[in-house]
Amino acid sequence: MRNIRFKGSLILGLILFVMTNIVAQNKNYEAQIDALLSKMTLEEKIGQMNQYNGFWDVTGPVPAGGGAKIKYEHLEKGWVGSMLNVKGTEQVRKIQELVVNKSRLGIPLLFGFDVIHGYKTISPIPLAEAASWDLTAIEKSARVAAIEASAVGLNWAFAPMVDISRDARWGRVMEGGGEDPYLGAKIGAARVKGFQGDDLAAPNTIAACAKHFAAYGFPEAGKDYTAIEIGMSTLYNVVLPPFKAAVDAGARTVMNSFNLVNGIPATGNSWLQRDILKGRWKFDGFVISDWGSAGELVDHGYAADLSHAAELAANAGSDVDMESSAYIGHLKAAVESGRVSMAVVDDAVRRILRVKFELGLFDDPYKYCDPKREKELLYHPDHQAAALDMAKKSIVLLKNEKQLLPLKKDQQKIAVIGALAADKNSPLGSWRLGSDDNTAVSVLDGLQKYTKNVKYAKGAELVIGQATFTMETKINETDTGGFAEAVKLAKESEVVIMVLGEHGFQSGESRSRTKLDLPGVQQALLEAVYKVNPRIVLVLMNGRPLAITWADEHIPAILETWQLGTQSGNAIAQVLFGDYNPSGKLPMTFPRSVGQVPIYYNHFSSGRADPTPHVFWTHYSDESNKPLYPFGYGLSYTQFEYSSLDMIMTDAAGRQPVTVQVTVKNTGKVAGEEVAQLYIHDKVAGVVRPVKELKGFQKLSLQPGESKIVEFKLTDAELGFYNNNGDFLVEPGEFEIMVGGSSQTGLKTVITVK
Ligand code: NOJ
Repeated sequence: MRNIRFKGSLILGLILFVMTNIVAQNKNYEAQIDALLSKMTLEEKIGQMNQYNGFWDVTGPVPAGGGAKIKYEHLEKGWVGSMLNVKGTEQVRKIQELVVNKSRLGIPLLFGFDVIHGYKTISPIPLAEAASWDLTAIEKSARVAAIEASAVGLNWAFAPMVDISRDARWGRVMEGGGEDPYLGAKIGAARVKGFQGDDLAAPNTIAACAKHFAAYGFPEAGKDYTAIEIGMSTLYNVVLPPFKAAVDAGARTVMNSFNLVNGIPATGNSWLQRDILKGRWKFDGFVISDWGSAGELVDHGYAADLSHAAELAANAGSDVDMESSAYIGHLKAAVESGRVSMAVVDDAVRRILRVKFELGLFDDPYKYCDPKREKELLYHPDHQAAALDMAKKSIVLLKNEKQLLPLKKDQQKIAVIGALAADKNSPLGSWRLGSDDNTAVSVLDGLQKYTKNVKYAKGAELVIGQATFTMETKINETDTGGFAEAVKLAKESEVVIMVLGEHGFQSGESRSRTKLDLPGVQQALLEAVYKVNPRIVLVLMNGRPLAITWADEHIPAILETWQLGTQSGNAIAQVLFGDYNPSGKLPMTFPRSVGQVPIYYNHFSSGRADPTPHVFWTHYSDESNKPLYPFGYGLSYTQFEYSSLDMIMTDAAGRQPVTVQVTVKNTGKVAGEEVAQLYIHDKVAGVVRPVKELKGFQKLSLQPGESKIVEFKLTDAELGFYNNNGDFLVEPGEFEIMVGGSSQTGLKTVITVK
């Protein structure tokens, strides 16, 4: 066994030393921070650690005892370091002026916001973007979001969410990169770069926030805010790597989470925040609590009262308190009584000030408050183009029997059915607080740009109850009054496009479900239409994997379009008519039934994995072990063939890096893009490894008949894993190497690593 942590840490130390010196030459704010800190009173220091909600959108429960009056008084005293949910240059400037002009030291505020997938121009939900496996497009999407957000006065995005999630019942799967830590890490880093750009001080870049640290994506039974139970191996190898990647990419802030980790709430968890994040990973930005999560230490039974909560959270390394009023109300007493040291407070404030300096707020607190930029940049045509590109790339073709798709451009008599087909709000998805309602291009609009041969029937008045961010949203469950009209239209048509799925607000925070079906009367509508015309293209819109087993068995063509944002209908129409050949691959496994959940490709083996004639093997008696659609799966209008899998060991001794080569050929009739995926299986290890782990992917574009050799490198980083102490190891031995177009298909060979 080679323990490479020591060697790694030496090299890392050297790199850090060099980098720190480079940074020191350019941007050494430490002396300015020291000078400022020395002038600050304890109250003013604690003020920097206090964040209040603005007076517009509310993204959490309204805390007792809040109120505008107190907020204004505290702002004037310099007792607030940052705000969330304030938007628009006018409002931001007003509050910034208040603080800069009236508070004693005039330390500018940070303005944070949930810029999850766009601000006004809305990109696909992050789970959809992940389906593109296109890191350049994903980085661009975050860049566009940063440009628009910074144009309305904001300087901090509460994104990317890098929580790995395996349970489709959890509504927040829409907000992340799916089930795989390797893909999740790459996406997290790309999004950080998109938000922060190369220069944080530029007026169009904003600080990123990797969240929710940690393991928030593993709630029991998929129910938001509930307990999680997670082992060390999964924590180190699955949950933490995307956070580490985001921090390595330079994320300036990290948000902790509502959940417990091994009995200690994340917000009060010193091991996570101090030992791992700020210690091992040398993170020098700051940590913010989630909304009210410091106060929730009391509800968890970890703190006796809010004062105790403030003490535990601050000592554990939670630098900013979002909306608990725990720090502003109780930290002073905790310091004066010695329960929290001044060093803890100074360290937190230093981190916060550092980010403010890096953003350039001390040079110009109003640099994000230019109404001209606000007017020019929102909904900019370049942003629309990027959103359309991202939307097309996010679509996944799940089924295409007898090449029903693409539709011919002169296709006659197309029926479009489903309330979501005409909807301009739902495709914006959840978490789009900056957007304007009803600004998405609907599927119907998109199709009508191609052809006049389209007739529409809602199919059912899919009454969408309470379609707002703060309320439960449901699709009508009883009214089948529109079925007859839809069935009649389907009967008269050559092909039927049915747009079904979830409303955009049926996923997202606190939108957990116990069922993964087409909600409301939609399944019944699908079956009723199928009886009279089975030539159906099912266009799915949803924020999570769905168990659409009936549809898979009966419907010839199925297109997963998630919630694609502003350009939704244009992207879908381009794919339906073949102007864009779908190239997306699933970032999360689709189950056959909800009982299989959590289901994910990178599971462990079982001592009883192979079927036996008797019952004693790992299986269900009423359902297959197989998913409906596996991770990494997605079809194209063309076909790709993999051949000539070859390994080149760097030297005869068989040490890495190993170069893996494979030939991919487009054997079909149209040009297309393919995501070639490489998986490994470390056959025998001191801590058992999953049956498969993604360790490389490349998206390539191929003309009909064209083939390319794709090359992957396997270094220690890909071949190693974390043991239960968090040490990174590479163990010699046999590794299976699998390359193909999904997690379940492809070529396989075995290498021996020495
Ligand atoms: C709670 C959510 O968990 C978090 O992701 C979000 O950033 C905050 N609310 C602020 O809206």
